[in-house]
Amino acid sequence: MIFTRCLCFFLALPLVLASVIPRYRLATRDTIQSNNTYKITNVKAGNVVDLSGFDNKSIIGYPDHNGTNQRWTLEWTSGSWAIKSFGLGLYIGLDGAAANGTKLVAVSDVATWDIWFDEVNASNYRIFEHNTIQNWDLSDYGNSTPGNPIQTWAEWKGFHQTWKIEQQ
Ligand SMILES: *[C@@H]1O[C@H](CO)[C@@H](O)[C@H](O)[C@H]1NC(C)=O
Ligand SMILES: *[C@@H]1O[C@H](CO)[C@@H](O)[C@H](O)[C@H]1NC(C)=O
Ligand SMILES: *[C@@H]1O[C@H](CO)[C@@H](O)[C@H](O)[C@H]1NC(C)=O
Ligand SMILES: *[C@@H]1O[C@H](CO)[C@@H](O)[C@H](O)[C@H]1NC(C)=O
Ligand SMILES: *[C@@H]1O[C@H](CO)[C@@H](O)[C@H](O)[C@H]1NC(C)=O
Repeated sequence: MIFTRCLCFFLALPLVLASVIPRYRLATRDTIQSNNTYKITNVKAGNVVDLSGFDNKSIIGYPDHNGTNQRWTLEWTSGSWAIKSFGLGLYIGLDGAAANGTKLVAVSDVATWDIWFDEVNASNYRIFEHNTIQNWDLSDYGNSTPGNPIQTWAEWKGFHQTWKIEQQ
């Protein structure tokens, strides 16, 4: 009985993983140049990822004004990406464990992210906490109000969870 249950568990595990981890195409250093500087734009709102000048900590959506706090260096580090502010040298991390509604913040320690091409529109990307289903989400369904925070949320089809990543 116990043996059967264990066997089922192991047989089911790959299926469970396959259903939660998106497997379209991972963006690696073959597709994004490591150490170059990028602008990251929310596909729905058109605002860019911005390290707030009010507190040098919050990561928000804001209209592009060519600010150095709106430019990001993508660093490929052993299988995932670190995303570093061009202006302040801080990394994008999380204010707590990745979950629905956890806010992105600038941190001094390297945090690691997986960048995937979006399954619906492969011109765009989704940025996940490494090995999770939690991806960047401009909160309130992509509200374009300047200063609206960026959070993690479980992947769903909402295109306010998709981003353009353009070299500057
Ligand atoms: C990127 O920069 C880091 C730190 O400056 C360096 O260690 C690494 O070799 C660089 N990678 C590439 C691909 O240039
Ligand atoms: C944010 O960092 C910049 C650059 O170091 C500094 O000039 C500014 O005073 C800082 N602002 C706050 C609110 O800490
Ligand atoms: C940002 O700089 C580029 C190149 O100098 C310029 O073409 C563009 O109009 C600027 N955008 C804004 C919003 O200032
Ligand atoms: C895919 O996204 C790009 C960039 O955001 C946009 O220009 C293009 O129109 C989109 N394509 C489709 C089919 O929606
Ligand atoms: C997180 O959000 C997803 C998608 O909206 C939802 O299906 C899931 O139940 C939420 N998870 C929790 C723990 O609330």
